[in-house]
Amino acid sequence: MPNEKVNILMVDDQPGKLLSYEVILEELGENLIKASSGKEALECLLKDEIAIVLMDVSMPDLDGFELAEMIRQHPRFQTTAIIFISAVHMQDIDQLKGYQRGGVDYISVPVIPELLRAKVTVFAELFRKTKQLEQLNGDLRRLSSHLITMQDEERRRIARELHDGLGQDLVAAKMLLDQCTPRISEESKIEKAKQASGIMDLAIQQVRSMSHLLHPPLLDEVGIVSALTWYVEGFSKRSGIKTTVGIEPAEFPRLERELEITIFRVVQEALTNVFRHAQARQAWVNLSNRANKVTASVRDDGQGVSQRVADLKPGSIGIGIGGMKQRVRELGGDITISQADPGTILEIVIPCSTKVPLEMRVSV
Ligand SMILES: Nc1ncnc2c1ncn2[C@@H]1O[C@H](COP(=O)(O)OP(=O)(O)OP(=O)(O)O)[C@@H](O)[C@H]1O
Ligand SMILES: [Mg+2]
Repeated sequence: MPNEKVNILMVDDQPGKLLSYEVILEELGENLIKASSGKEALECLLKDEIAIVLMDVSMPDLDGFELAEMIRQHPRFQTTAIIFISAVHMQDIDQLKGYQRGGVDYISVPVIPELLRAKVTVFAELFRKTKQLEQLNGDLRRLSSHLITMQDEERRRIARELHDGLGQDLVAAKMLLDQCTPRISEESKIEKAKQASGIMDLAIQQVRSMSHLLHPPLLDEVGIVSALTWYVEGFSKRSGIKTTVGIEPAEFPRLERELEITIFRVVQEALTNVFRHAQARQAWVNLSNRANKVTASVRDDGQGVSQRVADLKPGSIGIGIGGMKQRVRELGGDITISQADPGTILEIVIPCSTKVPLEMRVSV
């Protein structure tokens, strides 16, 4: 999580000094942990996830560099940031070079509180960002393996539909047409051609619905509003869930292509969830564009979601919400899911710039 507190381990064998570090760092709002010996420090490191170790180089009973060396030998702590507090000697600075592998810094005595806080803040942010990145990487890995499976299933489904549906219809139509030889009566020919034409209608219908599912046909040409209205109308009919669309402003502008596709896919996926999980009778889709932000929401009057889903906990969400989250974040936006009492509301907010027609662009 971006604003989670990080643990800062302060090591010194003099309680007075630990107290003064604590006073200086308190206002940063991070977790401060104290250790008065090397052994205690190592125990803390093994027990908690420490972002930064802060220690005096020259403690009477403990050599800071030796402790740093011990810390660095452990694979888990090779990148733990260490801030040494020391009287500046060239010799000390030379020693610092030995630890360059992980984050390392020093601050000279007397300690200037602002300086110490600034250094700690930099390392704490770095730690948080690294964690965030690790989490995102994990999400991405899970999502891409999910996507590969989904893609495979989707291909199998299309292949089956092509073979069992469209293929069979075309074979039947061809058989009927092949029978229209000079040997059969004019009447039979007309009858068979009629039957073949009826089967062809079904085949055309199948091609249409398959291609609609693969890519919303209206999106590129007429934009998100028409495409959403078209989709929601179809959804209402197919699902029996009375669904309405609200657009604001009514004169909705065209948006960047990626943004329009993302909104469309999120609404499509969210309505699929309403159909599959909500047991709702009604649903509302809203799209608004205000202050360079586009907001899209899907609300239903169904049974609501669990808190774990609302918190977007990795184990509780599937490829549906996982994919929405990914798409929205890629565009610098945010997704929230919450209880609507009754029902659920899913909302995405994405920063946007209105698409400017080519002829109106001014070159500078
Ligand atoms: N509108 C809703 N009402 C009630 N529960 C919902 C709603 N939307 C989502 N959920 C819950 O959130 C869970 C996660 O949804 P998500 O779309 O990520 O996965 P899924 O629908 O189970 O599977 P898929 O990966 O095929 O989409 C669902 O299993 C369901 O329990
Ligand atoms: Mg789903």
